[in-house]
Amino acid sequence: MCGIFGAVAGAPVADTLVEGLRRLEYRGYDSAGVATIESGGLRRLCAVGRVGSLAERVATEHPAGNIGIAHTRWATHGKPSERNSHPHMAPGVAVVHNGIVENHRALRSELSAAGCALRSDTDTEVIPWLVARNMAAGNSVEDALRTTDRTLEGSYAVAALHERDPDTLYGLRRGSPLVAAIGPQGGYLASDANALAGLVTQAVCLEDGDLAEVHRDRLVVRDAEGATVDRRLIAVEHGTSSLDLGGHAHYMLKEIYDQPRVAALINDCYGGIGVLSNFLPVAPAHIRRITMIACGTSFYAASVAKRWFESLAGIRADVEIASEYRYRPLPPAEPGELAILISQSGETADTLACLKRLKEAGTPTLGLVNVVHSTLAREADSFVPLHAGVENGVASTKAFIAQLLVLARLAVDIADRRRGLRQDHVLSCLRALEQMPNTITAALHNESAVQALAETFRDARSALFVARGPLFPIALEGALKLKETSYIHAEGFAAGELKHGPIALVEDGTPVVALACSGDLLDKTGSNIREIAARGARITVVGDRGGILSLMDVAVGALTIPNCEEFVQPIVSVLPLQLLAYHAAVQRGLDVDRPRNLAKSVTVE
Ligand code: G6P
Repeated sequence: MCGIFGAVAGAPVADTLVEGLRRLEYRGYDSAGVATIESGGLRRLCAVGRVGSLAERVATEHPAGNIGIAHTRWATHGKPSERNSHPHMAPGVAVVHNGIVENHRALRSELSAAGCALRSDTDTEVIPWLVARNMAAGNSVEDALRTTDRTLEGSYAVAALHERDPDTLYGLRRGSPLVAAIGPQGGYLASDANALAGLVTQAVCLEDGDLAEVHRDRLVVRDAEGATVDRRLIAVEHGTSSLDLGGHAHYMLKEIYDQPRVAALINDCYGGIGVLSNFLPVAPAHIRRITMIACGTSFYAASVAKRWFESLAGIRADVEIASEYRYRPLPPAEPGELAILISQSGETADTLACLKRLKEAGTPTLGLVNVVHSTLAREADSFVPLHAGVENGVASTKAFIAQLLVLARLAVDIADRRRGLRQDHVLSCLRALEQMPNTITAALHNESAVQALAETFRDARSALFVARGPLFPIALEGALKLKETSYIHAEGFAAGELKHGPIALVEDGTPVVALACSGDLLDKTGSNIREIAARGARITVVGDRGGILSLMDVAVGALTIPNCEEFVQPIVSVLPLQLLAYHAAVQRGLDVDRPRNLAKSVTVE
């Protein structure tokens, strides 16, 4: 949430700043801004909306400074406007910020009473004013930032510039990610190391309380006590392939079609039996209960995996929404508990708060993370990289598939280790997982049918997604995807729950996507679908051949997925739903990669 970037070089940095912001735009795109130091004075340029609007201003106004900071905003305090855009300024100082200053109201009153002219509605603006006040008291920029850090409550990453020190960028990390790096052309700060691609080959991951002083050719990091420290170095991949659309119209589509490759990579990395259980912080035989914690799409991956762990491995598994779990009173941890925290970004504030809580309780923690340099990857007892590659579209697709595939393999692995399964069942699940690259490719073949269905959604005001068993979380994910990208009100329901309330929503023509695949629950799902079809619902079945044949008499449309082992049906069923969400958004003329109000990395609670 919010991306921050800074650069200091031997030539004007404005274009580098804008390019850095483009790579951070997934973190928020309500407004963007830069501040540079030119002829000894600060200059600020901002624009409401996407980074592209700022790029236009930069191209016409040519800010000339060799040092600057930049920001792309996801609004928390104050609506998107130029006034609320970062950088925020006080005399001599400019600041960009990611996170939330929780005590900003008290600080704002105190600063205003002291005559400071705060202009925005943001929590951020207190930071430059505090720095300016501390400097007026005779402090260096570094000491002023330190004192400010002690005054602020909340979680944040900050980059700052001061006219008095026109060759130095300052970066402070307290709870939100920040990396610093030196390359051949200069020094940099960024919320995410991927934003530095092409500029440096490695970056330093700041830790909480660190203050970085970045010069053109030199970087000094000091911890909260002021001691100079060496922090972990991470490799920065070269190139711009993650920004390249690869011939697709949007990142979301590119990422949907990248899924067979992701599945193949996961097979290469975690294929066979016993590989993934090596990542566990406890021996499989000792696990008595698994708690999975996540947000959004990652939560739905956990919800599918719950069924896998219970049915295959015979282990009780619970799923928890991180924002709820972090504040819920809990009984003491029991021996044999394993917590799995699932997060594409590894920076989701609520998920990280749960991690902290679990660690304090002594529960072993495993992170499933796509961003390997993230806080969750670093702080969980152990972590499994998801290997989905950079996901640029805000609506998660390939990271979700990667989560499902890794969780499926983990369930099979644990089941095998605990000998809770007949070997032939383990083998058929494994065979199905080995086949996933081909199965996914086959499932993506019916794009034109999905496109035709999406057309029928163009003017829909709402849609229902229904399923049973392991497909139920996929119905929830399908509904989430559709609402995220197309803004159609969509809800997922357990088919058996329809008559306990949701059926009242059904009227003539209500679009319903019914997930129905061969298996024990097919007849039960079929009965529920018939009940809503009888009340006028316009049913589209997403399923394998058996599922579709069984509902042909009531369905107006069908999207076929390949016949596959029941165990992997949830993974395969989500693919047409991703395409449906994509095409529905495109047909409604919406910005499918940057849906309104959303951000990819949710670093505030
Ligand atoms: C945001 C994103 C979702 C994502 C969720 C959890 O809402 O838009 O795509 O599923 O955060 O993020 P995480 O990085 O923890 O998986």
